[in-house]
Amino acid sequence: TRPIILDCDPGHDDAIALILAAASPELELLAVTTSAGNQTPDKTLRNALRVLTLIGRTDIPVAGGAHKPISRELIIADSVHGESGLDGPELPEPAFAPVGEHGVALMAEKILGSKQPVTLVPTGPLTNIALLLATYPECKDNIEQIVLMGGSAGAGNWSPAAEFNILVDPEAADIVFRSGLPVVMHGLDVTHKAQMMAEDIERIRAIDNRPAQVVAELLDFFMLYHRDPKWGFEGAPLHDPCTIAYLINPELFSCIDTWVGVETKGEHTQGMTVVDRYQLSGNEPNAKVAMDLDRPGFVELLVERLAHYNA
Ligand code: BDR
Ligand code: CA
Repeated sequence: TRPIILDCDPGHDDAIALILAAASPELELLAVTTSAGNQTPDKTLRNALRVLTLIGRTDIPVAGGAHKPISRELIIADSVHGESGLDGPELPEPAFAPVGEHGVALMAEKILGSKQPVTLVPTGPLTNIALLLATYPECKDNIEQIVLMGGSAGAGNWSPAAEFNILVDPEAADIVFRSGLPVVMHGLDVTHKAQMMAEDIERIRAIDNRPAQVVAELLDFFMLYHRDPKWGFEGAPLHDPCTIAYLINPELFSCIDTWVGVETKGEHTQGMTVVDRYQLSGNEPNAKVAMDLDRPGFVELLVERLAHYNA
């Protein structure tokens, strides 16, 4: 099994990433830490606790991280994820409390204490990961890779140039992409192809356990937002679970090795990930960028893993 830490801002797709990871024997969830992003930090932390309560995994240590980006005010995505950050299904109240330390300290403790190098999986803004690398540089030696959701080689989804997670904290993203650690980026290029269609959601609803029902209801809510003609999606793009699916079965994805820079100062381009698709910059590759996926295989994986909760 591969030890991972999920740093998330639940968030509909973050919640599904967490439910998928916890159902996957290939992965060991050492900790869940929360970032400020889709909703305010108090809400994303509470949502992580509620999702883990739902799936009966109150054994996993949880801690909240930074309350705001490194040097900017927080932008939240309540227009996408609602007032609670997880609008739609009814979720249980948290049956356990976060551990009594900061999320970044919890990450450091788990990384330094792990016999096997740890994979970090950030599915929100990269603030906590950047703070970890800056505050506990000794952790770097025991980080296997950073498999993140964020960025785009093409258009953005929060500004014409920028994807939400990177736009919220571009300075943090810049630190992560420059860290020298292996980075795998799942940006909008691939996550917009990871759509769950109405019939996929019905397959999930037909699975007879509560976590699957909640996933179907999360997807119902998420799909309504994305069916707005301005986006033109037929289904719901499952951004964050791409990271977990990649760790379970990388063969579902096609990736390119390339240089990625983060725009922190542009007039129209702050938060843009500049992906050197045609090796024009002369810079050495610093990331693997997922560009495409086997969508049916991705759907099968999610459906199959949700059935695990039947036990
Ligand atoms: C990303 O932004 C959030 O709204 C989602 O949870 C995902 O991590 C997509 O741009
Ligand atoms: Ca997210």
